[in-house]
Amino acid sequence: MQLLDGKAISAQIKAEIKQDVEQWVAKGGKKPHLAAILVGMDGASQTYVNSKIRSCEEIGFTSTLLKFDADISEKELLEAVESLNQNDDVDGFIVQLPLPKHISENTVMEAVDFKKDVDGFHPINVGRMCKGLPAYLSATPFGILEMLTRANIDTAGKHCVVIGRSQIVGLPMSILMQRNDYPGNCTVTITHSKTHNLKEICQTADILIVALGRPEFVTPEYVKEGAVVIDVGITRVADASKKSGFAIKGDVNFELVAPHTSYITPVPGGVGLMTICGLLTNTLKATKKEIY
Ligand code: GUN
Repeated sequence: MQLLDGKAISAQIKAEIKQDVEQWVAKGGKKPHLAAILVGMDGASQTYVNSKIRSCEEIGFTSTLLKFDADISEKELLEAVESLNQNDDVDGFIVQLPLPKHISENTVMEAVDFKKDVDGFHPINVGRMCKGLPAYLSATPFGILEMLTRANIDTAGKHCVVIGRSQIVGLPMSILMQRNDYPGNCTVTITHSKTHNLKEICQTADILIVALGRPEFVTPEYVKEGAVVIDVGITRVADASKKSGFAIKGDVNFELVAPHTSYITPVPGGVGLMTICGLLTNTLKATKKEIY
């Protein structure tokens, strides 16, 4: 079994981006500027946004964080989005999800200028990704593709099973894994909460991508001997022994499953750390106008 080490790979990618930014700025290019909108006080969202902002500082980007109370109206939030659309100094921005229930995430995502949509959530970026056209790829799919690529994992002709059909992970991942490119060319099965015989389907997976948000759901009975297992789950579980009061759990029971795999991502220290790299990569592309 080999560990797909998100800590090491993400550090490597950040170092590459930092060097790229230095060269770009030395040649007179504009310093990349990422903005983030955070609505409400959700603990996990605050942690994610703070680490995105911290990463910007580490690699030489400018960053701006706009915080709003959870009772902001949809109209006010759309005005904030529009002000970032119009701000020429901001190259790319994100609206951290989830949003409060009275706000339509789809409406907000569609309001973001697709040329600044470094999360890759706008329908134009999703549609272009489906067609294999240059587009901003969303953070988690980016992170998974990078891990597969950097470990040189053979994907052509393999059976890839994705558990979860979310707009952010499961759906784009299934599209990317079947495309005619590396890492892709898989035969893909996308499964979800209504799937019959989930265990039997997973047992036939050469590559199993798990993104359903149920801590330690995947046990060895779901895994074919020698499979590649990618765990996208990040759930906070109460744990009195931790200073924070919680532990982070993946969707895979790592201890039991790992000995049966060829490659596996740990949680924490796996896919989660890679996602920020996707966002930073997209922001640099936005600054350089590489896609649009
Ligand atoms: N919430 C969970 N993942 C993400 C992400 O990649 N981007 C944003 N904006 N919100 C998220």
